Order: sequence, then C-alpha cells, then structure tokens
Amino acid sequence: MRSWFFVTFAFTITLLSSIQPGSCQNEQYLSIWNVTGCTGDAYATTAESTNNLPIPPGLNIFFYRVNGLWKLQHCHDAETCPDASIIAYGTMESGCVPRLVGEGNTELHVVRYGDVNQVEERITFFEEERLEGESFSITPDTPLNATTRRVGSYFFTGPSSWQHKSSQSAESGACLTASPEVNQAGYGFTFALSGDYQVGWVQHECNVTEEPSTTTMAPTTTTTPTTPTTTIPTTTASDIPTVPTTALPTTVTPPTTEASTESTTESSGYTHALGIVPFFVAILGTIRFQF
Ligand SMILES: *[C@@H]1O[C@H](CO)[C@@H](O)[C@H](O)[C@H]1NC(C)=O
Ligand SMILES: *[C@@H]1O[C@H](CO)[C@@H](O)[C@H](O)[C@H]1NC(C)=O
Ligand SMILES: *[C@@H]1O[C@H](CO)[C@@H](O)[C@H](O)[C@H]1NC(C)=O
Repeated sequence: MRSWFFVTFAFTITLLSSIQPGSCQNEQYLSIWNVTGCTGDAYATTAESTNNLPIPPGLNIFFYRVNGLWKLQHCHDAETCPDASIIAYGTMESGCVPRLVGEGNTELHVVRYGDVNQVEERITFFEEERLEGESFSITPDTPLNATTRRVGSYFFTGPSSWQHKSSQSAESGACLTASPEVNQAGYGFTFALSGDYQVGWVQHECNVTEEPSTTTMAPTTTTTPTTPTTTIPTTTASDIPTVPTTALPTTVTPPTTEASTESTTESSGYTHALGIVPFFVAILGTIRFQF
C-alpha cells in the first residue's frame, strides 16, 4: 500500500510541476473592477489585508471577485466606517459580485483571514459572530487547555479536523471537519459565521468515536455573503489520497500518516492508489482547458 501511494504521489507531483508552474489556485486575492462582469483590468487587487484601496470618485457601484475568505468595509476615511462590514468567500470559480459604494465612502478596508495559501493548520475562534471580536487561535503544536470562553464564529484552513470542548474534563464536545471539497483540493476554508459554543479545550484532529458534528461551508459559485450550510461528513479515508492536489504544497503530509484515522485495509488502499491516476488526469484536463 505504501509503495503504491508513493509511486502515485511522485507521478502526480511530476505532472503538476511540469504543467502549471506558478499557477496558484489556492492563493488568496481580492480584486475590484469599475465595470460589470469584472472584465478587463481590475483597478485594484490585493493579496493582503489593507486599509488602502481607494474607491474612485464618482463611482456608485463596484464589482469584486475574491479567492479565499475576506472582510470588506466601506469607509469615509481611515477611521469612519459607518456601514456594516461584509464577509466575502470565494474560490477561483466564483462569480463577480456588485456592491453599492454608499454615501460618502471613498475607500475600502479589507481583512484577509488565514494564510495566503489557505493551507495553514490553524483554527481561529472569535468571541462574536461574523469573525468579529476578540480571537484566539490554536495550532497542532499549541493545543488549548484554558478557561472556557464563549465563541460565536470560527474558521480554519486546509484538510484538517479540530476537536473542541468546554474543558478538558467535559464529557462531550464537537469535532469540526473540513468539507469534502477542502479535503479533495488540499486547501481552502471551513468556517461558521454564527454559533454559540463554549470552548476551553481544543486539539488538532478528533479522537472521538461518536458521529462528528460538522459545520462546513462548501465552496459556492458566488461570493454573495451566505450563512454556512451543514453537511453530512463523508468518510475521511476516501479523501486522503487527494491531498497532493495542492499545486504548491507548503507541507506535504505522506498520506499514510493520516490514514490512521480510518481503518484502511491493504486492498482498499491499493484501489485508491490506482483510482487516483485517472482523477489527476481529469484535473489536469480541466487546468489545460482553463488556460
Ligand atoms: C476604470 O478602471 C480603469 C482601470 O483602472 C481605468 O482606466 C478607467 O479610467 C476607469 N473608469 C472609470 C469610469 O472610472
Ligand atoms: C488542563 O487544565 C486543567 C485545569 O487547570 C488541569 O487540571 C490539567 O492538568 C490540564 N491538562 C493539561 C494536559 O495540561
Ligand atoms: C483524546 O482526547 C482526550 C480528551 O478527551 C485527550 O486527553 C487525549 O490526549 C486524546 N488522545 C489522543 C491520542 O489524542
């Protein structure tokens, strides 16, 4: 099983690196146009949080496209931002979204959530809904064991799972797992913009045996702000071989380490290894078609 994985793995990496150097489906950005349909050159683009995106004078409506998870706020100046902010989530397939500028607004303040490649193993909890208020984050190396805090929203990146409880001694808690789309792509966001959790203990990966409660946001085809949908988790085992789809992985986890969360038999691992080749051919077909 192990050798089949690595043969496939090497084959995949070779194909990807020979076909699409520098193409980053996972790189977060926010672009703004002054024309319908987001066609031609964007007048502003950023890959990072900034308070420095001007709204051209006289423009009543702008159009944006995002990859990743962002917060947008329309402001009069550096300090005055009277309108409510919006959370924008998008993938490379997401559409062009119109936004009314609003009276007196001359600039956009934007916040990018997470790392630029949407892969970091980190979960960030916010005390308020819509990723607002005080936040705290946990990584695999820094699990949390602290005073219980109320949490109203959260996000995490990459094909991970996170277990949280109100305290270490609490009997029950929740297991948050990445969406099937994120598991398949190897990058992306899983988030909830509203909720009411008591969190005092968090660890990377779930070791619960009961059915995980999963709240995920499946990538949608528009960047219109929406509330997360709840999906039934599929088995993690079927998603494991797709980890290498990340075009430029910052950390490549050998599939065999994660496989321990599911009992994968010798024969099913073999089937996965064979099945993965046509899958990547299909992906590459799509990539070629797009460029
Ligand atoms: C729209 O943006 C383009 C690109 O920055 C710019 O050349 C053009 O003058 C803008 N048009 C209007 C009406 O602001
Ligand atoms: C977690 O916190 C509790 C309460 O402070 C403490 O008793 C326990 O030893 C801590 N566990 C770890 C693993 O540090
Ligand atoms: C499983 O979860 C418990 C808390 O419920 C924790 O103390 C323990 O270290 C975890 N075990 C593993 C193997 O992660």
